[in-house]
Amino acid sequence: MSEKLKVAIVGCGGIANGKHMPSLSKLEQVELVAFCDIVVERAERAAAKFGVEGAKVYEDYTELLKDGSIDVVHVCTPNSSHAEISIAALEADKHVMCEKPMAKTSEEARQMVETAKRTGKKLTIGYNNRFRPDSLHLHNICERGDLGEVYFAKAHAIRRRAVPTWGVFLDEEKQGGGPLIDIGTHALDLTLWMMDNYKPKAVLGTSYHKLGHKENSANAFGPWDPKEFTVEDSAFGFITMENGATIVLESSWALNTLEVDEAKVSLSGTEAGADMKGGLRINGEEFGRLYTKEVDLKTGGVAFFSGGSGESDSDIEARQWINSIINDTEPLVKPEQAFVVTQILEAIYESAKTGKAVYFD
Ligand SMILES: NC(=O)c1ccc[n+]([C@@H]2O[C@H](COP(=O)([O-])OP(=O)(O)OC[C@H]3O[C@@H](n4cnc5c(N)ncnc54)[C@H](O)[C@@H]3O)[C@@H](O)[C@H]2O)c1
Repeated sequence: MSEKLKVAIVGCGGIANGKHMPSLSKLEQVELVAFCDIVVERAERAAAKFGVEGAKVYEDYTELLKDGSIDVVHVCTPNSSHAEISIAALEADKHVMCEKPMAKTSEEARQMVETAKRTGKKLTIGYNNRFRPDSLHLHNICERGDLGEVYFAKAHAIRRRAVPTWGVFLDEEKQGGGPLIDIGTHALDLTLWMMDNYKPKAVLGTSYHKLGHKENSANAFGPWDPKEFTVEDSAFGFITMENGATIVLESSWALNTLEVDEAKVSLSGTEAGADMKGGLRINGEEFGRLYTKEVDLKTGGVAFFSGGSGESDSDIEARQWINSIINDTEPLVKPEQAFVVTQILEAIYESAKTGKAVYFD
């Protein structure tokens, strides 16, 4: 392919500046040609820093989508507009990378999957934690069957006090929830991917707003405004799968605990177990004794996409995504997988509201 892929960014805030634009800029097959933000100065700044000469700036994403030369759109706006913008971009014949969580509701997520199928365009979700060396290696281990049948797992998304106070993260309407949908989504995605199990049977959930009302709380990102804090501060899920496996999902932005782990998974299989706490560890039994092995991720073929080139997980994510378009292969993060993550998170919220378990037919 001689022509470069023309990529546009919608939503030029934190994640666009921290992940998408720097990683895309490193790819020679790509040029960043258009930038959109409802705060137009943000789009202008992004265009000046990351855009090709003459890059276009928009305030309204529907105008951007009219440009027939754009091949790919990265959706980096708050959760409430993920589905609307992704669907419109797919309909406008663009491939779409949408930030996590896929959508606020499973119905929106279902429509995203359906639109991608119907239009034949590619759709992926920004689950960059899959591209970490520990995740890639553990996934290889799981795929080979080294852990045996994984029948118990924990998805960890626990912060002690790290409530995101920028943007609209505390706004129920804009985000669809708090830590569960924000960081629980990463941990659950990792867990389902490792288990290669996308068939939930039942979900029981609880959610709490116990610390969010406190004034002047010690917080990694500065004190939050209790009046703005309309989402939960922690939520937990007990998920059973059709094949009998159990997943426990723990998420918090604020919780009185010392067991802090985010975007990590612990797996228990019939042959061995694995966890990502303090590095990747494998545990099991051999020659009549128990063992715990710490995996050295610095040496060896960890990143199967890069051969250990020292790229960040965001760089590998961007490269794998762009290559999937150029070579017409599947992106690593498939929309059907992200749909199931969305369904389970929604079921936890639903169960927390009603006090009843949610059953999938
Ligand atoms: N992959 C990750 O680990 C990760 C990390 C942080 C954020 N995110 C996700 O990225 C998304 C954005 O988060 P953020 O931290 O960048 O927030 P942010 O508030 O810093 O940026 C969002 C930007 O989108 C703009 N925007 C809002 N509505 C828009 C619209 N309709 N059209 C164009 N622009 C619009 C806002 O003005 C803002 O500049 C969220 O969905 C969040 O979950 C993912």
